[in-house]
Amino acid sequence: MRIESVRDYKAMSSIGASILFDAAMAKISKGMPFNLGLATGNTMITLYEELAAKFNIAKADLSLLSTWNLDEYAATKNTGVPHDHPLSYWKYMHENLFRRFAPERGFKEENAHFPNPAKPDEIDIALEAVGGIDLQLLGIGFNGHIAFNEPMSEDEISIEDFGNLPTRVLPLSEATLEQNTRLTANGDPNLMPRFAATLGMRPILNAKQCLLLACFPEQESQLIKMIGGKKATPALPASYLLIHPDSRVIYTTDCINLGEVL
Ligand code: GLP
Repeated sequence: MRIESVRDYKAMSSIGASILFDAAMAKISKGMPFNLGLATGNTMITLYEELAAKFNIAKADLSLLSTWNLDEYAATKNTGVPHDHPLSYWKYMHENLFRRFAPERGFKEENAHFPNPAKPDEIDIALEAVGGIDLQLLGIGFNGHIAFNEPMSEDEISIEDFGNLPTRVLPLSEATLEQNTRLTANGDPNLMPRFAATLGMRPILNAKQCLLLACFPEQESQLIKMIGGKKATPALPASYLLIHPDSRVIYTTDCINLGEVL
């Protein structure tokens, strides 16, 4: 795992957008398809604005781009939230990225994939058919989750089984409900869906490259645990990036200090 620091959110967004753009263009400019794994959250907002601008300026053929989102909220165990739900990740992606693609770039709505709470295994089958994700963008929850793969104890699940978890629907942990109510639902718990469909650890770790971005002080302790712990554990889902062959973490030094573990 490569660990790099940048000064602040703006620098992280620019570097992140460049990494995604360069990886996508290396394929797209040769007429080859590119499968980009996407994350939501406050971390990615400026990055997506810059990424869309780069694709538009480069006149990229976005008909070759397929996107695969990490997760989507679900109202019940098998019903996704409607697209116009204020917290819908479908809505987030359309507002922050897809609507910014110039129409002549040719991005196809049907190439934007989200885990479907009614049929969670569909996306894993579709991903296997395209050979997996080329580059997976990731944030990190304040409890160390990636996507909505919530921490579990090693008494509940083995290290190997956790790393093999498929895409599925699960109830959100209290920590995540509290965090996301505060940060994304204006503190209104009634707005927060209680379930989510999440890409599993297996399809995430099958991505050829993973890029995790962190820019909030609350993420510092999880990053310190991950780097200092030196091993993958279900108690800290992001720690599986330590055993991924091509993973990269970029964090901002104005909010996060990893001095003691690097
Ligand atoms: C949600 C998502 C995660 C994301 C996290 C952090 O919980 N399921 O995939 O990493 O939020 O979001 P933010 O970027 O707002 O910190």
